[in-house]
Amino acid sequence: MTTLALPAIIQGGMGIGVSGWRLARAVSSHGHLGVVSGTALDSLFVRRLQDGDPGGDLRRAMRAFPLPGVAADALRRWFRADRGTDEAYRMLPMYRKGASLARERLTMLASFVEVWLAREGHAGAVGINLLTKVQLPNLATLYGAMLAGVDYVLMGAGIPREIPGILDAFAERRAASLRLDVEGLPADRAESVRLDPAEHWEGTPPALRRPSFLAIIASNSLATMLSRKASGKVDGFIIEGPTAGGHNAPPRGAPSYNEGGEPLYGTRDEVDLEAVAELGIPFWLAGGAGSPEALASALVAGAAGIQVGTLFAYAEESGLAPEYRQSVLEHAARGEVDVLTDPRASPTGYPFKVVRWPADPVPVAPPRTRVCDLGYLRTAYARADGRIGYRCAAEPVDAYVEKGGAAEDTEGRRCLCNALMANVGHAQVRDDGRVEPPLLTSGDDLAGIARFLRGRTRYAAVDVLEYLTSG
Ligand SMILES: Cc1cc2nc3c(=O)[nH]c(=O)nc-3n(C[C@H](O)[C@H](O)[C@H](O)COP(=O)(O)O)c2cc1C
Repeated sequence: MTTLALPAIIQGGMGIGVSGWRLARAVSSHGHLGVVSGTALDSLFVRRLQDGDPGGDLRRAMRAFPLPGVAADALRRWFRADRGTDEAYRMLPMYRKGASLARERLTMLASFVEVWLAREGHAGAVGINLLTKVQLPNLATLYGAMLAGVDYVLMGAGIPREIPGILDAFAERRAASLRLDVEGLPADRAESVRLDPAEHWEGTPPALRRPSFLAIIASNSLATMLSRKASGKVDGFIIEGPTAGGHNAPPRGAPSYNEGGEPLYGTRDEVDLEAVAELGIPFWLAGGAGSPEALASALVAGAAGIQVGTLFAYAEESGLAPEYRQSVLEHAARGEVDVLTDPRASPTGYPFKVVRWPADPVPVAPPRTRVCDLGYLRTAYARADGRIGYRCAAEPVDAYVEKGGAAEDTEGRRCLCNALMANVGHAQVRDDGRVEPPLLTSGDDLAGIARFLRGRTRYAAVDVLEYLTSG
């Protein structure tokens, strides 16, 4: 169990690759909590290797990976010093239940490398963020992060009830399993995925330090439920409001929308902080909390601090492709950005924040041909023949309907996997030469970022930390 002092500022996990190791390292080396995104890390890792690993950072971290042969094998398969920018990336097969040991090891390696690099050169704590809904790679991602000594695991986007016990199991060298959500599964059948450290080590696996577990939640009832019924200790809660960047929890009750089609949130969506405080578990506030005043009022409300995303997403150390980062900041400095809460864009069905700005390449890009080849947001479903299939509402409509999905579910869906890879400079190139378009996400606070910028259009993570602590 970690005995580190609680951080006042958590740099929120931002996937895919926006909060990479560079950003997390910058934040953690200043004594706050830097968090790497664990989402789609295996695919991101093999794309970075195909881009030649400029600077050699990945290869330096790979040398420290403790399972023999895995790093050498990954280098042999994926490293390219000469990939042309108009060449398509080679792909990993999409994750499915029963992934091979080799695939698990590659995922562990990717996660190990990200955490190892974030921890390099300082003594501060580092966390990893995973989306609970992305179930299949999560066990291997967690195990790899623990091999690298991760201090915190932060998970939302679903109910991470089983995760604390999984961390306990891996710390104690035991196998862990996770119930797999399968749509249409008969009530008397359950499916799960499993990872056994003993299958990866010759001899006894090492005991590992159990990271602290922080659950990201948007309601009192979930906090209470997790504090009582999680499979192990929940060390804290991040209470995230609907102004936060990325995915948001849907509003409670019957949905209603404003003129722009954005979901409306009401008093029922407010979290009763006194009730959370009564649970006696530390908590942080997230979503529009990126100001010195918000930090001060969070502390007054009994919180340990705040979790901030948007301000860090545009810092120089973030993984956002520099051309998008710069373009958004230049427009934001003039008050020319909008953030829309799109209830349809994400195939998860959760509202997703989308940035709109005058130089947004998406509205003028040629229409995208649907293709599902990364597959992290697919849901598992029970096929008529009793086997498990996988579908995503952003995949080609015919394929989705053939798999039993409803055509109306596909309307307005965006391929977040490919778009988020494009956001961080690893867009796939298609056979016809088209490049996957980006889709930027930020919190509502992006519209007011000029107050923090004070005329700048470049800044570093340390500038955010200085600003937040300036009160
Ligand atoms: C670009 C971006 C990506 C994000 N991705 C994730 C994610 O993958 N997982 C997650 O739990 N939260 C994600 N978030 C939410 C942040 O971790 C954080 O809680 C949130 O941004 C805080 O609100 P703020 O944006 O108003 O500061 C993301 C936020 C942004 C801006």
